[in-house]
Amino acid sequence: MTPHTPRSRALGMHLILVLVTCLLASQVLLAHEAVPSAAVPPTESATPWGGDYFPNTLLTDQDGQQVHFFDDLIKNKVVVINFIFTSCSDSCPLETARLRQVQKLLGDRVGKDIFFYSISIDPLSDTPEVLKAYAQRFKVGPGWKFLTGEFAEVTDLRKKLGLFIEGVDNGRSKDHNLSLIVGNQETGRWMKASPFENPWILADQLANTLQNWKQPSVEGSYANAPEIRPPSNGEELFRTRCASCHSLGPQDGQGIGMRSIGPDLIGVTRQRDPAWLSRWIREPDRMLAEKDPVAVELFERFEKIPMPNLRLDEKSAQSIIDFLKEETDRQQTLAAQTQ
Ligand code: HEC
Repeated sequence: MTPHTPRSRALGMHLILVLVTCLLASQVLLAHEAVPSAAVPPTESATPWGGDYFPNTLLTDQDGQQVHFFDDLIKNKVVVINFIFTSCSDSCPLETARLRQVQKLLGDRVGKDIFFYSISIDPLSDTPEVLKAYAQRFKVGPGWKFLTGEFAEVTDLRKKLGLFIEGVDNGRSKDHNLSLIVGNQETGRWMKASPFENPWILADQLANTLQNWKQPSVEGSYANAPEIRPPSNGEELFRTRCASCHSLGPQDGQGIGMRSIGPDLIGVTRQRDPAWLSRWIREPDRMLAEKDPVAVELFERFEKIPMPNLRLDEKSAQSIIDFLKEETDRQQTLAAQTQ
């Protein structure tokens, strides 16, 4: 055995002291921690989905400006995010038109405390210039960015947002319909929304629910909401699938100062051949591809925004046509009475 030298004894004492100090310090820390965590509500850093969850993907907007997904786009913000591709002929134009209505309802709050982002899932075709032209065709206002980035990174982003459906990444499936999410990064509250959602409901979620009711509400806009009465199937379909792009008579859509993306449809059932109308509602993309003369003329007149194929069957198309007929008759009777 080697006898303890004064030096090694001193070292031993030193080690014990260090150990005791550490133990004491950790006790103090633990006790200290226990108090505030019980008394203070979760803070910003407690939100379950922060910068360590969301990628800080580098994206380019329609003006060629580079931004980072987490830091620049969603951090501490109330946002709407959807994924689109500009050559999409079914659900994306409907979604864009619907969001444009929501943007109108929210007015100048968009770009101030509510932000809109449409991210392309087809970055090869959707360059910033293509996205800019798309945004202009839909006449979107400020506060709404159209973004593009690396395909793999955008896919990763969709997964993180829960908007990626395995095996459907060309977006052409119906499942692509559910590609809209609204949320508040700060509170960690995120909700998926359907593009068929009533725009007033979406606007209300963004302006009130997600703001934790702190901001002035957009309640006034409810005055302009269509009056509630049980709608027919045709009317229901029209309101959810068509009304974002088409008004129905001179009074329709006036309240929120919206001009339509497609033609007004009052009287269309008298103007067009029934078979043409039924097919057009079901497969306008094919008729345009076949260069149907009426289709081509309309397409040119309406800023080359193609009417989307909404995958309606014949029965649904007919119920919409019936509703259009009824509404035309109703408005005509009304006009005759007031003359
Ligand atoms: C994303 C916008 C959009 C949506 C949603 C949409 N349309 Fe259209 N629609 C258009 C545009 C734009 C045109 C003009 C033709 C073109 O550019 O393809 C059009 C044209 C039409 C026409 C021809 C009008 C005429 O003068 O003959 C009819 C009818 C029509 N749409 C019915 C419907 C119905 C019914 C629905 C719902 C099931 C619907 N549209 C949904 C954009 C839309």
